[in-house]
Amino acid sequence: MEHTPQWPVEMEALIRDFVDLRCRYQAALTEVKTKLDILNEEFRVRYSRNPIHHMESRIKAPASIAEKLHRKGLEPTAENAVRHLTDIAGVRVVCAYRDDVYTIAQLLTSQDDIRLLRSRDYIKEPKENGYRSLHLIVEIPVFLSTGKQYLPVEVQIRTIAMDFWASLEHRIRYKVAFTVPEDLNRELFDAAQRIAEVDEDMQRIHNRMVALAESSGIDAAQPPQADWEE
Ligand code: GTP
Ligand code: MG
Repeated sequence: MEHTPQWPVEMEALIRDFVDLRCRYQAALTEVKTKLDILNEEFRVRYSRNPIHHMESRIKAPASIAEKLHRKGLEPTAENAVRHLTDIAGVRVVCAYRDDVYTIAQLLTSQDDIRLLRSRDYIKEPKENGYRSLHLIVEIPVFLSTGKQYLPVEVQIRTIAMDFWASLEHRIRYKVAFTVPEDLNRELFDAAQRIAEVDEDMQRIHNRMVALAESSGIDAAQPPQADWEE
């Protein structure tokens, strides 16, 4: 009879732990995304517009978990991941306008089953390289067969403009094997500044349109339409 290949016992346990971990954090992610979907939909019904342009989410890959634990001088185990990492589950919320970023953050964190663990406002205080976003670490309860467990989810909230810069900057920085020369860093920083100015302009234009619509008694905005129609 042919022998069925087996993982070494400790390897099997590690894989099982990571599959279990992924499942639990996926549940936390789904809970947070559902809350955001509900807020977005309610806005659409009440104010005829969507504050959220789109969302992305991810569960950190085992290799990235191991790498981050290694950076912290820790063994790559699921237990260490749960104990020391707060970004295993992540959702990125891309909003139309800057004020929407704060509205979404406020509405999410004021829900009474959500615990706010950490808030970093890289919009009011951008990172040295020009990066802007509002980062929250929230804890949300997930209900499993084994009981209730609070799990952290990293929520990055930013505008389309901030996302445009961050996505391209990430590719530029991470795709190259060498360090980005200082003058290019300077250019990236300047680009972030200009993009932030455009963001402010768009916010102002939007505010004026809302005010005009209100003063003329028209519903604040047209019902959202796909911006690319066949
Ligand atoms: P990490 O170890 O990278 O997770 O950093 P941290 O725990 O100190 O959190 P921080 O708030 O600095 O950043 C977390 C995440 O925000 C990163 O994983 C990126 O997704 C994003 N981020 C932070 N800084 C930058 C940046 O300079 N450029 C881009 N493109 N993204 C960034
Ligand atoms: Mg991270």
